[in-house]
Amino acid sequence: MKHGDRPVRLAVVGGRRGAAFHAALEAMPERVALAAVCEYNEEYLAQWKEKYPEIRTYTEYSRLLEDPGVDAVLLATPLLLHARQAIEALQAGKHVLSEVIAAHTLEECRELVETVESTGLTYMMAENYCFMRQNQMVLNMAQQGTFGEITFAEGGYLHDCRRLTLQPDGRLAWRGELQRDYNGMNYPTHSLGPVAQWLGIGQTDELETLSTFTSRAGSMAGYVREQFGDAHPGADPFYWKQGDTAVTLIRTRNGAVISLRVDWVSGRPHQMTHYGLQGTRGAYVSERRQGEEPLVWLAGRSPGASPGREGDLEPEWEPLSAYRAEFEHPRWKRWGDEADRTGHGGGDFFVIEEFVSAVREGRRPAIDVYDAVRWSSVFPLSMQSVVKGGQPIPFPRFDVSRPTS
Ligand SMILES: NC(=O)c1ccc[n+]([C@@H]2O[C@H](COP(=O)([O-])OP(=O)(O)OC[C@H]3O[C@@H](n4cnc5c(N)ncnc54)[C@H](O)[C@@H]3O)[C@@H](O)[C@H]2O)c1
Repeated sequence: MKHGDRPVRLAVVGGRRGAAFHAALEAMPERVALAAVCEYNEEYLAQWKEKYPEIRTYTEYSRLLEDPGVDAVLLATPLLLHARQAIEALQAGKHVLSEVIAAHTLEECRELVETVESTGLTYMMAENYCFMRQNQMVLNMAQQGTFGEITFAEGGYLHDCRRLTLQPDGRLAWRGELQRDYNGMNYPTHSLGPVAQWLGIGQTDELETLSTFTSRAGSMAGYVREQFGDAHPGADPFYWKQGDTAVTLIRTRNGAVISLRVDWVSGRPHQMTHYGLQGTRGAYVSERRQGEEPLVWLAGRSPGASPGREGDLEPEWEPLSAYRAEFEHPRWKRWGDEADRTGHGGGDFFVIEEFVSAVREGRRPAIDVYDAVRWSSVFPLSMQSVVKGGQPIPFPRFDVSRPTS
């Protein structure tokens, strides 16, 4: 269903994270127009209204969905709400751009796919880490076979978010509720999204089985005791179900192995990129800290040989940027200046740019509903695996009725 040339009239739902998209919305006024914001918190709503006086504001989601002047919603609400809100929006005739993760149960994954298929509307998951410059460049290289056959890829989301797990009065925020109630890979898509694209998951390969292990819950109780005192229930380590670190191993149908790690409660400096891949003709490792270069080694191109013969030079890593002229992703060539001004390494720009392009052109977005549920299903499947001591759990197929064009 093609939208045509006019700007997509977008409503932001959930104003805190939604504010991160200001720059992206303002960068392409001919293609997207902010029409409304829906938010419970009146203070956030007032901030939006002050910045964009012409928008309509809502505190009730159902009322927003009745607004005929809204073509699409950007769901930036707490994680457990996404699937239900997406399904309701699609049923109300709105296109959906959903924050991560798309759904947290297998039932919701299936219902989401069915609703996208039956409505024919555009659904995209806003997995912004896929669009970071180096992740896109590695994607371009992988798609051109530069690494040979990829046999291994890894991703990690290691970010001390403890300050976001509780509200200032000690009540749990949604991240805290996840930490209390679930134990598994509870935030998988920043790690999995980019590497799944490198491996052609959903195109030439499929996720087949996963195993997940979690550590003990070590970091939350001490933090809560320090912030809120011994009387807070979270000061008891057994209050928290989620282990600090979750590690998932996935085997793909073509025999690649993916390693994921998520830890959002352990103390360490933040570094957004934790990725790597190994192919039969090359390897990639992302930077470990701000200011470092991501590195590649490519057989026949980079210095040295691996394995070398007697007298050969030792193989040496090269900066990924040495290959920028050849492998910069076309998306970054076109929009790099605008994207550089937005958050998450430009990812916050591209999720909007890609979504509104897909709506206007009536085409599949770069992260469609099948990608969204495939990657998000790691949440429920990993919980099952942890309960069974790390037993491998098969991925269901969500794309059996996927249209061919
Ligand atoms: N992609 C990224 O890099 C990234 C970064 C941060 C957060 N996120 C995602 O964004 C989402 C929000 O995260 P956050 O940290 O901003 O959470 P938050 O709890 O700080 O903000 C959520 C906002 O939604 C509002 N809200 C809750 N229910 C609502 C409803 N039914 N209708 C309207 N408003 C409602 C709340 O009042 C709050 O202001 C999460 O899904 C998270 O995964 C993604």
